[in-house]
Amino acid sequence: MQKIEPKVTQMDIVCAEIPASPVALVVFGASGDLTKRKLIPALFELYQRELLSENFYVIGCGRRQLSDKQFRKVVTEAIGTEADEFSKKFHFETGGYDEPDFYKRLTNRLEQLNKQYSIDNNVIFYLSVPPALYPVIAEQLGSAGLTCPKDNTQKENVRLIIEKPFGRDLQSAAELNSIITKCFDESQIYRIDHYLGKETVQNIMILRFANAIYEPIWNRDYIDHVQITIAESVGIEHRGGYYDKSGALRDMFQNHMLQMLALVAMEPPSSFEANCIRDEKVKLLKSLRPFEPSDFIRAQYTNGVIDGENVSSYLEEEGVAPDSQTETYIATKILVDNWRWQDVPFYVRTGKRLGAKNTNIAITFKKVPHSMFASFGLDELPSNILVLQIQPQEGISFQFQAKRPGSKMCMGTLDMHFHYSELFDVKMPEAYSRLLLDAMTGDQTLFNRYDSLETAWKLLDPVLADWQNNNSTLYKYPAGAESFAEADKLIESDGRNWRAIANH
Ligand SMILES: NC(=O)c1ccc[n+]([C@@H]2O[C@H](COP(=O)([O-])OP(=O)(O)OC[C@H]3O[C@@H](n4cnc5c(N)ncnc54)[C@H](OP(=O)(O)O)[C@@H]3O)[C@@H](O)[C@H]2O)c1
Repeated sequence: MQKIEPKVTQMDIVCAEIPASPVALVVFGASGDLTKRKLIPALFELYQRELLSENFYVIGCGRRQLSDKQFRKVVTEAIGTEADEFSKKFHFETGGYDEPDFYKRLTNRLEQLNKQYSIDNNVIFYLSVPPALYPVIAEQLGSAGLTCPKDNTQKENVRLIIEKPFGRDLQSAAELNSIITKCFDESQIYRIDHYLGKETVQNIMILRFANAIYEPIWNRDYIDHVQITIAESVGIEHRGGYYDKSGALRDMFQNHMLQMLALVAMEPPSSFEANCIRDEKVKLLKSLRPFEPSDFIRAQYTNGVIDGENVSSYLEEEGVAPDSQTETYIATKILVDNWRWQDVPFYVRTGKRLGAKNTNIAITFKKVPHSMFASFGLDELPSNILVLQIQPQEGISFQFQAKRPGSKMCMGTLDMHFHYSELFDVKMPEAYSRLLLDAMTGDQTLFNRYDSLETAWKLLDPVLADWQNNNSTLYKYPAGAESFAEADKLIESDGRNWRAIANH
């Protein structure tokens, strides 16, 4: 297939970015991996883009005895450069999350620093700790009177960001939500799904709803099927303890994949307002045909070779039980029971230790109804495919048939594509900087409302129960594989094929 380089004239550019208001950010779990790898660099990116208020500061919390100075050293390591003006905004408070005294000290520290930074009431609590601690911290914040502003002004000025996972099934998610909503209103809660912060994922809405050409053909009359793929070449990266209790269904499918599906398939929201968009996403999730355990192919990687390197099996990974039945791969076919999508399959797959890293959504259009080129042996022409490329390079491509120069009849597929990084001479913003800035400006659009998580867990509960009882087969695939026989059968039995994962 021939690639066409982008030549795009940028006209009528509308850029809207609201800088953050003065705010205090309290990070629980500030000595952890996420804070160092994602949150601090994302804050630094906002700082460099002048999107943080001058009146901004961070209090990191943890059990470890860290002074402000030691915490600032962590900050410098995380951003990989000396930036005193930035790092001096970081402070540290040591304590146990279940100790009321810790929250008294935190309250005093907030009061003192709010005065110093001239901040009224705006505070964000970020739970970057293991999920078992979410309810503990929320309840303690409630008991300490920290969940609404001191002067009882707008409650929404106090916000809670919660990392994923939000529950591990319907019951645990409901229990967690009921504890958290005793202390915080839904309008104060920001449940993270970092995929929603990625540029191409946000672009799904702009592509669909800011262009007139797509909506008329975005339905069962024109679309043959959709494939959503999250392929990773990495394994579980020292997170065996977490991953072995989670697996691909909880870690990837319940959140990222269903959210992407909702954005691709939902009806047009009436405005770019958080609850309008979230209403449409929930409506879509509620129209998914109930999942049957037999709809899912689940598998685990064995040892193999990736990029010429020998890679050990999942069962040999640190933190994984030697007889673990946890899946590192799933594939399924989803049907949407509504007028727009009846009978259009959405094939969804995700796996670790596959042959390449590639996340994309591929929309395959129906073939032309009649080939007028049959006399040249072209009885059937390839489909047009629109690919929303999410990782590793964010961009969009469109495959179509075109004449090649020379012979009277010479036809082939052309791939018209653009990659954000090639087209725009800027570093791609990190998903976490988008999400942190949105939380600071009080925009909940890219965060999950509880009803969408609840709908997702309701769909998955029967599958999880079946797996818990070891009723379904756990297949094996070698690390470095593109796919394997059972996963192929899922789509081939419908007369279709998976797209190559290394194809981007
Ligand atoms: N890391 C990632 O890439 C990633 C990606 C997506 C989502 N998440 C989610 O983000 C959250 C944080 O992830 P993380 O990888 O940073 O976690 P982590 O490194 O395992 O833990 C964060 C911090 O929590 C504290 N902690 C751990 N166990 C504790 C306990 N039993 N009691 C009190 N404090 C405890 C530790 O700090 P102290 O010992 O100093 O108290 C630790 O540094 C998790 O919910 C995770 O699921 C992480």
